[in-house]
Parts: sequence; structure tokens; C-alpha cells
Amino acid sequence: MSDMSTQTAPLAVVTGATAGLGLETAKGLAAHGYRVIVAARNADKGKLACHAIRTHRPGCDIRFEWLDLNSLESVRQFVMRLRQSETSLERLINNAGIMAPPRRERTEEGFERQFGVNYLGHFLLTSLLLPLLIAAESPRVVQLSSLAHRSGDIDFDDLNGDKHYDPWRAYRQSKLAMLLFSQALSRRSEEHGWGLLSVAAHPGLSRTALFDAGIKSRALIGQAFKLVVPLLSQSAAEGAKPTLHAALADDVRPGDYFGPDGFAETRGEPKRAHRSAAAKDQAVEDRLCDVSCELTGAVWSPSAG
Ligand SMILES: NC(=O)c1ccc[n+]([C@@H]2O[C@H](COP(=O)([O-])OP(=O)(O)OC[C@H]3O[C@@H](n4cnc5c(N)ncnc54)[C@H](OP(=O)(O)O)[C@@H]3O)[C@@H](O)[C@H]2O)c1
Repeated sequence: MSDMSTQTAPLAVVTGATAGLGLETAKGLAAHGYRVIVAARNADKGKLACHAIRTHRPGCDIRFEWLDLNSLESVRQFVMRLRQSETSLERLINNAGIMAPPRRERTEEGFERQFGVNYLGHFLLTSLLLPLLIAAESPRVVQLSSLAHRSGDIDFDDLNGDKHYDPWRAYRQSKLAMLLFSQALSRRSEEHGWGLLSVAAHPGLSRTALFDAGIKSRALIGQAFKLVVPLLSQSAAEGAKPTLHAALADDVRPGDYFGPDGFAETRGEPKRAHRSAAAKDQAVEDRLCDVSCELTGAVWSPSAG
């Protein structure tokens, strides 16, 4: 793909590509000849990211588009703009995320912020982008999950932490939701013959700004991260490899999930990753999908508008 001219180059959208894993993923896609949209909430950081990617890959076609996953209205506006300027979307990388804000915060529509930003915003984004994805030649959607999904569950009685907010539990729930979402979308694509490859990836433990909020928290797990992250982690560029593998490799199958192959999947080269029993529960997957459609107003249809 590296010799594709930018005129005909397929389009990739990477959410949260202003820093960390998203920036490295955008660099990797640009290096493979994709036109890349850095979809994020901070225009100044967006410009810097585009500059860094152009330096890495001179001549690549890259632009910033404003997308704040904290607001479903912003998601709708982003999709409206994209549908005016593009006819197809080859890769959607749902990467943006936040981790464990110590106090419960709400999105603009009132959802707990991790549930809203990490998961619900991406759920609506993907649903609204289905027409562009299905119009592409061989489209893929990659959801960013985490090792943390393994100890997560979906608390249907308290999805937004209204009764009890635990920052880490909310993070784990959001990352499990992303993995369930990738399978639900995969299943739906197969049922309807959309030809969309829906997969997931996790970066092990990668040194990015993600841990800042969690490490500041006084919870034991935050303190543990202070010790564990420097010892077991890898660079953001290494951490982006499972995502890039899921997005680009030839051996990827519907519903696949990739992570690093090293110690406890914390670092290393991409391989198929382990998922928890909860992540394989189809009843939970179906219920979460129904609830997410209700909460966001999303409709899963190739002509969704
Ligand atoms: N690092 C790890 O070890 C690790 C492990 C497991 C999973 N992950 C997952 O990997 C993904 C990327 O994380 P990272 O480690 O690269 O973290 P990061 O360096 O903090 O980057 C997160 C990105 O998400 C963006 N973002 C945050 N809130 C947003 C919003 N409301 N709307 C749009 N964009 C928003 C950030 O933009 P701003 O710069 O404007 O904040 C930033 O570009 C996350 O989904 C995370 O859960 C990471």
C-alpha cells in the first residue's frame, strides 16, 4: 500500500490521535499510504500531531478534525462533516480514552465520563459512520480495549455509577464494553453481509499520559501503577503495534482481538489476546447493544442517518 498516491489513498480516522498510542497509530497508517484524520478535541494538539506525522512521513495526507467524545452532539457534527467530504471510510480506529478520574464526572449528556467517552461516544460514532464504512472496499473497525477488561463487568443496574462510583471499576467496565462492542459489530456484519471486519486490540502496558489521573488517585491500584508501569511497560510506538496489526495485517479474522505476546500480555509483539469469560457472554453483548442504542439514539443500519 505504500506506493498509493494521496489522491486515491483510502481514508482512516483515528480518535484521540493527538498523543500516545493514537498518535503512533496515525503515524503507522500514514506510513502505509492512508489519508489520516486525527479526530480529537484539542485543535492546538491536533496541529502539533499533524506536524509530527508529516515529519515522520513527508508528503502524507493528514488533517485534524474536531471531535469531543464527551459530547454526543459533537460526534453527530463530526460525522455530518465527514459525510459531506468523503464517500467511504476504510479504517476507523476507536482509540481515544481516559482512565480513572478520581471523582465522578459527567459527559454533556450526563453519562459517567469513562462510560461516555471511552465507549458510548465510540458506539454512536461507529453506528453513524456505517454507511461510509460499508461503502469502502475492505473496511475495518478497531476498538481499543485493555487488560483491565478481564476484571470488569457490565453493571446494568448502575451503568453510570449513580449509586456508587469507583473510578477503576468504571474504567474496566468501559474497556469490557469496547470488547463486547467489537464482537457485536462483527456478528451484525456477518449476519447482514456488510463485509466489515470488526476487531479489537489492547496495548499491554504502554508509557503514555493515560496513567496520570489514575496514578494521582490515592487508591491502592493507583499506587501499584507507580511501581508496575516503569518496570513492565513499553513505549507508545510498541504499544500501538497490536492496533496496527488489527488494522493492517492479512491474517486478521472477524472478531479477532490482539495484544502483546510478552509477559502477561504487558509488552511484546502482536498476537491473539486472551479475553475474559464476561467478554464472551453473548447475552451481555446483546443487552449492552440494545441499551447503548437506546442511550445514544443509534440505529445499526447501512443507511443510518
Ligand atoms: N497506555 C496504556 O498502557 C493503555 C493500556 C490499555 C488500554 N489503553 C487504551 O489506549 C487508548 C489510548 O490511550 P493512551 O494510553 O494513548 O492515552 P493518552 O496518551 O492519554 O491519549 C489519549 C487520547 O485520547 C484523547 N481524548 C481524551 N478524551 C477525549 C475526548 N473527550 N474526545 C476526544 N479525544 C479524547 C486525548 O486527547 P487530549 O490530548 O485532548 O486529552 C488523547 O489524544 C485508550 O482507549 C486507553 O484506554 C491504554
